Amino acid sequence: MIKRIWNINSQQTPVRFDDDARLLDVLRDNLDQIGTKESCNQGECGACSVLIGSELRLACLTLAASLPDDTQILTVEGLSQVSLGHNLQQAFLQSGIIQCGYCTPGMLLAAMALLMRNPKPTRDQVLRAISGNLCRCSGYNSIVDAILSAVNRVN
Ligand code: FES
Ligand code: FES
Repeated sequence: MIKRIWNINSQQTPVRFDDDARLLDVLRDNLDQIGTKESCNQGECGACSVLIGSELRLACLTLAASLPDDTQILTVEGLSQVSLGHNLQQAFLQSGIIQCGYCTPGMLLAAMALLMRNPKPTRDQVLRAISGNLCRCSGYNSIVDAILSAVNRVN
């Protein structure tokens, strides 16, 4: 059993997990962060995306033991605490693009990672930023429109 103290959504959080546990399982099963979705389990869909520091990472492919104490993790549950994340959530809600919603947490975090490194992305840059996130319901144009409208709220 491994013990760590991570910073999850700005809270110092003690965690315990098996040596071979994935970050996805620790978040969902040990910490009840079920907004981080489990879908393909093989790095193909982006549903399990989280931010580690400012880097977008797939929790299904991340070994929890590889993350040291004080690792900063942002999940969709913490997005509303950050003004950029709040703006993105509002833009998604107002655009009406959320259908089944399964992809939405990963889309939001992919958008957040983009806007943290590039506050004024082009449409093409937004499309590329969410290219690892699959949505079977909504169509990508409306998702890109929502992300660009969040950009316009900030700028
Ligand atoms: S569940 Fe991790 S990429 Fe699909
Ligand atoms: S809203 Fe259903 S997968 Fe995107």
